[in-house]
Amino acid sequence: VNLEAQDWERGFLVATATVLVVLFVAILGSVVDAGIDLPADAGQIDPRKLSIADPAANPVPFNELGVVAAAEGEPVDFRVVLLAAEWRFFAGEEAGSRGAIPRIEVPAGSRAEFVLTSLDTVHGFLVADLAVNATVIPGQITRVTVDLDRPGEYRIVCHEFCGIGHHTMYGVLEVTP
Ligand code: CUA
Repeated sequence: VNLEAQDWERGFLVATATVLVVLFVAILGSVVDAGIDLPADAGQIDPRKLSIADPAANPVPFNELGVVAAAEGEPVDFRVVLLAAEWRFFAGEEAGSRGAIPRIEVPAGSRAEFVLTSLDTVHGFLVADLAVNATVIPGQITRVTVDLDRPGEYRIVCHEFCGIGHHTMYGVLEVTP
């Protein structure tokens, strides 16, 4: 019997079991303590009923684009409602135009919910340096809640290759002091 080999084997068994236990505790901690879980179903919408040219006729909540104040008692201060389409994020004020880059102004110290959907293909929605990183899928509603603590300019980008104009799909989120 090679005792040295047995010791090695025992050592690896203990190390494997330790890693499993540590990771399981980490998962439990993230669910119970940090409240992290899988994204819930945020709703569906028929992309054929959505229009960039005439957003007021869109189904709720896409009938009002841009920064929309939340009602009293809601868990967020306001929503940022955007439509993603080849190849821009439409924030309302320049609705219908395909030239301008959306610039969204929101106050610091607030809690915002981004609400998006796509009119055509799969897009990405990433706000650099904020915990916002989502996929925008036609037919599905995407919702991301974030605390806007630090004032500054945050770059918005589509990070899902969506066609020939993919690189033009960006914008700015300005968190004002
Ligand atoms: Cu939209 Cu890339």
